[in-house]
Amino acid sequence: MSSILSPIAIRGRFLDIQNTVSKASDIDQAVRYIEDGLLISHEGKISWFGTWEEGQSQLNADMNVQHYPDQLIVPGFIDTHIHFPQSEMIGAYGEQLLEWLNTYTFPTEIQFENKAYADKIAQFFVNELLKNGTTTALVFCTVHPQSVDALFEVAEQHQMRLIAGKVMMDRHAPEALCDTAESAYTDSKALIEKWHGKGRNLYAITPRFAPTSTPEQLSAAGKLKAEFPDVYVHTHLSENKNEIAWVKDLFPEQKGYLDVYHHYGLTGSRSVFAHCVHLKDEEWDCMHQTDSAIAFCPTSNLFLGSGLFPLKKTWEKQVKVGLGTDVGAGTSFNQLQTLNEAYKVQQLQGDKLSAFEALYHATIGGAKALDLDEKLGNFNIGKEADFVVLDLKPTAIQALRQERAKGIDDAFFALMTMGDDRNIHSTYVFGQLAYSKSNAQ
Ligand code: GUN
Ligand code: ZN
Repeated sequence: MSSILSPIAIRGRFLDIQNTVSKASDIDQAVRYIEDGLLISHEGKISWFGTWEEGQSQLNADMNVQHYPDQLIVPGFIDTHIHFPQSEMIGAYGEQLLEWLNTYTFPTEIQFENKAYADKIAQFFVNELLKNGTTTALVFCTVHPQSVDALFEVAEQHQMRLIAGKVMMDRHAPEALCDTAESAYTDSKALIEKWHGKGRNLYAITPRFAPTSTPEQLSAAGKLKAEFPDVYVHTHLSENKNEIAWVKDLFPEQKGYLDVYHHYGLTGSRSVFAHCVHLKDEEWDCMHQTDSAIAFCPTSNLFLGSGLFPLKKTWEKQVKVGLGTDVGAGTSFNQLQTLNEAYKVQQLQGDKLSAFEALYHATIGGAKALDLDEKLGNFNIGKEADFVVLDLKPTAIQALRQERAKGIDDAFFALMTMGDDRNIHSTYVFGQLAYSKSNAQ
């Protein structure tokens, strides 16, 4: 990150959530909507934010103001769980989790032994994130260390804040995808030393899930976490009923699925567990007590028939939660589409997901789940300048609906119900334009 970043000034309509909250009902008071606002960024950070009227005096004569009069600007979307090597296998037919892994996922991931292949897909993946307004993601690579290099090299070119790690997996998978407890430890340690904190990159210790790691390997993962306490832990938990029964068979000495991870020191404020669809009450309590986070992945949970995630319970139990696309079990890179499905998952349980709660989970709530809410998630001065310029009317039906929107909450709700990558006008990363629909091939 040696390049000098030029200052930018952006004028337009801004919407964000100013702070984290502990009750869903407090979100409305934290909403900040500025019809005619100004954001100034220096060296990748927000140096001024407020109304255009107040902000003009902050502008230097040599600063160009980029004006987006017809758009809506929100903080960059945060994806708390996604697999970059699975980009090419979205929409694999007919299976639930365990069969889906064996039939489609493992054969796909074997290809990432080849660094040139990993480079090509990493490039595609990062472009796809930016095209969808996602500026930060917590990402699974494959078992191959070179897959991690491929991803971080591309992230670095864009100065993007990604968290990623090498999969640890030493059983119940094809030979070509298995490491050992020892090689997983050594390779992960080398990757932590190479990438964690380099530029905006952060590392996650990534055991795939309990069934594909021996107790020795989980113990090695815990040892690494103890040696590098500020790296992340990223894995899957309690996604599918057959998976849960399998974990019970494999680890009979543990009370429940989460106890397996907890026993090996893998819970904590930088631990993110994807899915958590079927947690028991004691597991919710352990998530809370250890300050661990959940990645809620609605398109994946519906696609694989895993179940309905009880989002309301995260408020009741005070457990951090972010939104995950979980591509390629998830069916879209787009967080608007993900929110659309998140809403329906709550409807099926008799619950509601308001527009502002949805925006919260996709931005500052996701940042909190990743323990990055001091740096990301809204337009507070001093935060990193990652944001998205949204087109509200890219299609005839969206234009018709938006012209009748009753206020900004209704407008955002229509956007999250109908929106997709056509709504992403531009994406800014660390104060620089990283994607613009008008320049896209
Ligand atoms: N559990 C273990 N591996 C995976 C994976 O690749 N995707 C999903 N959705 N769940 C998993
Ligand atoms: Zn996953």
